[in-house]
Amino acid sequence: MTIRRLTNSERPATSFPLQAYAFEASPMRAERAEEFRSYLPYHEATRTLVAEEGGETLATASAIPMRQNLRGAVLPMAGVAGVATHPLARRRGHVRELLRQLLDEMRDEGHPLTALYPFRASFYERFGYVGLPRARTAVFAPADLAALLRADLPGELAWGRSGAGYADHRAFTERCLAERHGFAIFPETRAVRQRDDDDRWQLTARVDGETVGVLTYRIDDHGGELAGDDLLVADPYARALILQFLARHVDQVERIRLRIAADELPELWLTDLAVHVEARVARPGSSAPMARLLALDALAGLPAGPGRVRVELTGDRWLAGTHLLDGATGRLELSGDATGSVPAATLTAAGLSALAYGVLDPAEVDVRGLGRVPADAAAELRRLFPRRLPYLFADF
Ligand SMILES: CC(C)(COP(=O)(O)OP(=O)(O)OC[C@H]1O[C@@H](n2cnc3c(N)ncnc32)[C@H](O)[C@@H]1OP(=O)(O)O)[C@@H](O)C(=O)NCCC(=O)NCCS
Repeated sequence: MTIRRLTNSERPATSFPLQAYAFEASPMRAERAEEFRSYLPYHEATRTLVAEEGGETLATASAIPMRQNLRGAVLPMAGVAGVATHPLARRRGHVRELLRQLLDEMRDEGHPLTALYPFRASFYERFGYVGLPRARTAVFAPADLAALLRADLPGELAWGRSGAGYADHRAFTERCLAERHGFAIFPETRAVRQRDDDDRWQLTARVDGETVGVLTYRIDDHGGELAGDDLLVADPYARALILQFLARHVDQVERIRLRIAADELPELWLTDLAVHVEARVARPGSSAPMARLLALDALAGLPAGPGRVRVELTGDRWLAGTHLLDGATGRLELSGDATGSVPAATLTAAGLSALAYGVLDPAEVDVRGLGRVPADAAAELRRLFPRRLPYLFADF
């Protein structure tokens, strides 16, 4: 078995059919093969490795060069996607091999972060990934938004098709990338698919010409559902402006469905709003994302509280050694100075990633077996890495 990197034009005959078998209804229509060619521009920046034997493609794994906000720093992130093995070649370790090489290459090319949606979380936990919150869906009736109809809100709305609104949408996701912990976006070559697909409506909220919120959505039928994608807003005024627009669909649709970040609490948006909030995690098909640090450089200079702790990193191919983490200056400093009496912890890559992404308390890292964290080290780590809820946004 050999592993090699595909050129873009090789995809339709190699990786795309494997991915279609793994992720789509099949056998596929004959025209599907034609459609593959039209996707190539969106994959220009994607790195795809394949495992081959006797000229046949056995397995494939890709990484999209993305960017992600980690506690305020915007860093290159490898978005792992399109992982699939031929049904006759599964359980032979092909994906394990591909992933190892793919992450080596992405790390060497300057991606200190990586994220993915796992087929099985435990498989990727052994690769050092830790779970992030899944985006929630909120479902409610437009009638319950009635109180907003009379509200006098700052700003105005623009409405049209998502193709025409793409530039505004992209610019606003760039703003979210700069401002929201965990937020990740595609490279431009991939993101423009939203413009070209042009298959949604788009609502854009603006105040004094500046975009403060966007929502793309579809309506399935009269009396049916208005299904929104992620509700992206800069503040509660922008959110109210968008909800006010949705309220005007009271005589048109029965339900409104929106994707929201895990830290949104729609039950507090309005009085008398009956709302169902759900995060469904199931295998296969509905996974919560995972992420990890691939390089310690990601941590240097991050805002941190005044903690001081020695961590020994174990069991990982990409993160190793003993490091002193110090937040005395308000920014995280790392050094190899491992002497002196400082509280000490042992962490796996998943354990350190859980703390950096803010998803687990040090005690949970200990309980989950992602390290050994004595109480004194836990107190220091808690100061260095206060809990934060990341919002990944990108779906890949
Ligand atoms: C999920 C999928 C990608 C796994 O690919 P794979 O090449 O079979 O993966 P690997 O062989 O590297 O690892 C899968 C399992 O087989 C095990 N395995 C590896 N070598 C093995 C061997 N010689 N004998 C038995 N099992 C083996 C691995 O350890 C792993 O199981 P574990 O996590 O319990 O240890 C493949 O089944 C697939 O294409 N599924 C459909 C699409 C899909 O779900 N894609 C992932 C979306 S992100």
